[in-house]
Amino acid sequence: MEEKILEAASYVKNIGVAECTVGIILGTGLGNLVQSISVEKEIPYSEIPHFPEATVEFHSGKLIYGTLQGVKVLAMQGRFHFYEGYDFKQIAFPVCVMHACGIKSLLISNAAGAINLNFKKGDLMLITDHINTFPGNPLIGPNMDELGTRFPDMSQPYSNELCNKLRLIAKNQQISLKEGVYIAAQGPMLETPAEYRYLRLVGGDAVGMSTIPEVIAANHLGLPCCAVSVLTDECDPDNLQPINIEEIIAVAGKAELKLTSLFTELVSNLN
Ligand code: HPA
Repeated sequence: MEEKILEAASYVKNIGVAECTVGIILGTGLGNLVQSISVEKEIPYSEIPHFPEATVEFHSGKLIYGTLQGVKVLAMQGRFHFYEGYDFKQIAFPVCVMHACGIKSLLISNAAGAINLNFKKGDLMLITDHINTFPGNPLIGPNMDELGTRFPDMSQPYSNELCNKLRLIAKNQQISLKEGVYIAAQGPMLETPAEYRYLRLVGGDAVGMSTIPEVIAANHLGLPCCAVSVLTDECDPDNLQPINIEEIIAVAGKAELKLTSLFTELVSNLN
């Protein structure tokens, strides 16, 4: 596995990715940030050795290298989800590759449902903690000692330093940034009313189908990370409205400007 990471990283470096400081994972409907990057290289995932193979519904993924706010970034446009059939090591593989390419921080975005009923569609939520209900994680199996310790500490899964920077930026930009606990569910179906009630009872503020495998991998690597959810639907178990993915993507698209603005400013703080 370690060899595969190094081979993938060498490929990426050999085709022109020199130094890079920040890694970014762009969630569903949140690819817009790429337009602010002055792009030097676009590398389709399919060209990178050992990258997971695309599923039918997921074919446009690429790694984007360039400059944002004078900072060299490596951005993943499109991520791998458990519900598509990937295992957790495959999902986390790009994080390990970006780390091997030199990133010092990882910024993650996703679309999620609001289970805290004080939060509304279109709000942004800084993830301060998470609950993993996926049936596994990327660290199961022999530990890759070169990458990190067998029993990684998870007392601060989302870097306080990065979270504090985001809080300050949101305040300065007058963007309302909620905070809360993200729960990852397997998907691909959305939750039933009873499931939303349950997720709220156990302490969740938002639910989505991604992010936690990447965050676990980042913590194993000792790579500081932070994550922001765009809340795309309100999950009130007593008044649950039918929702479809097109609507989720449309709401994500509308809130995207705020997210792009936060991440862009954060990146400029990270050189
Ligand atoms: N549940 C799970 N994932 C989601 C949701 C949701 O309600 N909304 C957006 N992603």
